[in-house]
Amino acid sequence: MHSAALALMKLLTVVGARPQFIKAAAFSRVARRRHTEVLVHTGQHYDAAMSDVFFDELALPRPDHHLGVGSGPHGRQTAQMLERLEDVMRREAPDAVVVYGDTNSTLAGALAAAKLRIPVAHVEAGLRSFVREMPEEVNRIVADSLSAYLFAPTRTAVDNLLREGHALPPPALETPPPPSSLHPPAAGSGAAARGAIYLTGDIMYDALRSHAPLAAAKSRVLEELALRPGGYALATVHRAANTDDPARLERIVDALAMLREPVVLPLHPRTRAALAHTDIEVDAAVRVIDPVGYLDMLALQQHARMVLTDSGGVQKEAYLLGVPCVTLRDETEWVETLEGGWNVLAGADPERILAAARRARPSGEPPRVFGDGHAAERMVEALEPT
Ligand code: UD1
Ligand code: UDP
Repeated sequence: MHSAALALMKLLTVVGARPQFIKAAAFSRVARRRHTEVLVHTGQHYDAAMSDVFFDELALPRPDHHLGVGSGPHGRQTAQMLERLEDVMRREAPDAVVVYGDTNSTLAGALAAAKLRIPVAHVEAGLRSFVREMPEEVNRIVADSLSAYLFAPTRTAVDNLLREGHALPPPALETPPPPSSLHPPAAGSGAAARGAIYLTGDIMYDALRSHAPLAAAKSRVLEELALRPGGYALATVHRAANTDDPARLERIVDALAMLREPVVLPLHPRTRAALAHTDIEVDAAVRVIDPVGYLDMLALQQHARMVLTDSGGVQKEAYLLGVPCVTLRDETEWVETLEGGWNVLAGADPERILAAARRARPSGEPPRVFGDGHAAERMVEALEPT
């Protein structure tokens, strides 16, 4: 399919938050084999443990542009990103802009590009919680509606996008369109302005596949924390719904302390800040540590008896690693993980959390619902003019 005459594309990738560094590393590795990539870091996450560590561990190239936006209320943070991204995109004039997931960096990247009429490619398109109060839900809906390329990780994501009026690429794409039609959905109004859906599989599986062996070889985190494989639970908490409501946060940390196993809690800075503003005491049975790097996190997940989390990425990784998960939310975008009891929704209610933790003993292997670990190849191919 790739002729020697294939034109080089200039792709501009926007990242800013922890999970985006992980996804972008998998994309970059493939995209840079044939194309030029300009990497832009909005600065949404900036602590070394939330940003630098991933560039080092995942061999993600240093950003070409660092916008230094930092933390702030949604409007201000997004507006600053938008302003600075517009400048960079004008100067770089890429063929397409790639955004990931559902953060404010995703929203700003998609919006800045769409206004400049640069085609947007959304990695992790079509995810829906159907809870509009979640900031991420707003970000995803806007990013999807502005995107030319909708890279859906799962069949459910494809169905969500089809319901919203997006379409699978026409079979005509199998016969090469004219070389100028790099951007499948024509500019304009109506159905033609909708994005084209590509079922690519999940790019976090690409990342996990290439880094799990490295984690096994390099991570010493279990020894450092004196943990026995299978003898602890791993927890993460950072969702706004859980951290911005002190009563809810207290119920979660209390539930963690009541589990049979000792709990390791690599604490997101948002949650650390939230706890510091309350008098909530975290019981000594819950070992609070700083956020860890990707390799240590994979090792901690792989050897945990179970994972308890409100993170999207961690729910998927637990599933892919065959580790039972209790999700500290009332809904999930990753509904496939609920099949067979690999993931159980438990909200923030201690009784539900404890009951879910007791039940979290699924058998067999989780079905393969996140593709084959080659999502990035499919994305780059979809972007290439044929
Ligand atoms: C963001 C995303 C969320 C994603 C998460 C991944 C939005 C709206 N939310 O949430 O979807 O799941 O990233 O981790 O984009 N902070 C630091 N140091 C840092 C980064 C953050 O101290 O390096 C603290 C600050 O107090 C900041 C707070 O964390 O106000 C929240 O950070 P922010 O980037 O706004 O949102 P996250 O909760 O990280
Ligand atoms: N992660 C990590 N260190 C940690 C916590 C999480 O490397 O201390 C990784 C985790 O393995 C997954 C990603 O960060 O790959 C998930 O990011 P996060 O939970 O911050 O965001 P979400 O996926 O919910 O948007």
